[in-house]
Amino acid sequence: MKALLTTGGHGTRLRPLTHTLNKHLIPIANKPIIHYALEYLAESGINEVGVVTKDEGLDIKEALGSGEQWGLNLTYIPQTSPRGLADVVKISEDFIGDSPFVFYLGDNIVVGGIKRFLDAFKKSESNCHLVLSKVKEPQRFGVPEIRGDEIVCIEEKPDKPKSDFAVTGIYFYDKSIFEAVNSIKPSSRGELEISDAHQYLLDNGKKVTYSEITGWWKDTGKPEDLLEANRLVLDKMTEDEILGDVSSDSEVVGTVKIGKNTIIKNSRIRGPVIIGEGCKIEKSFIGPYTSIHDGTSIYKSALEFSIILRNCNISNVRQRMDGSIIGDSVEIVRRTERPLTNRFMIADHSRVEIV
Ligand code: DAU
Repeated sequence: MKALLTTGGHGTRLRPLTHTLNKHLIPIANKPIIHYALEYLAESGINEVGVVTKDEGLDIKEALGSGEQWGLNLTYIPQTSPRGLADVVKISEDFIGDSPFVFYLGDNIVVGGIKRFLDAFKKSESNCHLVLSKVKEPQRFGVPEIRGDEIVCIEEKPDKPKSDFAVTGIYFYDKSIFEAVNSIKPSSRGELEISDAHQYLLDNGKKVTYSEITGWWKDTGKPEDLLEANRLVLDKMTEDEILGDVSSDSEVVGTVKIGKNTIIKNSRIRGPVIIGEGCKIEKSFIGPYTSIHDGTSIYKSALEFSIILRNCNISNVRQRMDGSIIGDSVEIVRRTERPLTNRFMIADHSRVEIV
């Protein structure tokens, strides 16, 4: 059993973060999204993983290396332009050979990993095993039509979904998928759609089976998905880990992780919260479902349900921050010099909501 993992694509819905950071490297609970995928693959006993990158994927190579850290052997496969998910499979045929494999979209997070789905695929002896999840907006996904307990049709992002299931980004295949991806034509948006490859399998009498995710699954395509994934991962955190310094005038409640060389002074931290290394939190409130990455300082401010990356400075922000995602080295500070006006220095595709 091998695996194919995506780390390319456009990432446009996550701008401005993705101007400077590959979306798969955005941290959720202070850990890059792609690490979750690598952990699930390793836990499932898979060793050989093809990592499909945008062009040479230098950022991904630098972040993941040989894969040794997870006990995996990573082979990098460059995709010269994002021609669709079926194209990702197509260009990986030499790497996969005759082996069955899991195709895993690197921006998906699923609690409990994927071993149970791999076992279901093996048991089903099918050509293709899909993992489905009930969702509120099926039109954002590949959607199956199910009759009895059989998938009869699959459509990509349909205007009128035929079920409230999404096909998640976890697919198991045998080699028949290569006939499919080599036969289909690009869709109206110019991509080789994985849903069209699945439809090809159905049309050509191949056995397509499925499992349903009963826990949670998240495709981290939009900013609100990142916040929700962060909330869900922090919610599953069960043990405190306080490696930094918490002063006696501070209060820490709920499940909280605080990294080395972090100082918490005269503040209230209400978990679940994760704070990285070398941070300074003073006279502040950090509320539930917040991740703060290394080197960030927060002074006389309150925030909750947010993701703050590295080396930020948030100081004297009177109004509580909520549902915010802040990139590396961002400063949000109170202006003390005259004229006392709001001043913004914001790069392309940023969004600021003020009250
Ligand atoms: O997450 C589940 C959904 O993923 C499925 O329900 C859809 O059927 C499937 O088409 C896909 O839809 P998305 O619109 O979410 O795909 P996205 O373009 O975001 O790409 C998903 C992953 O694949 C992400 O890791 C980026 C990568 N990718 C994407 C394309 C189009 C590539 O590596 N190369 C590509 O050419």
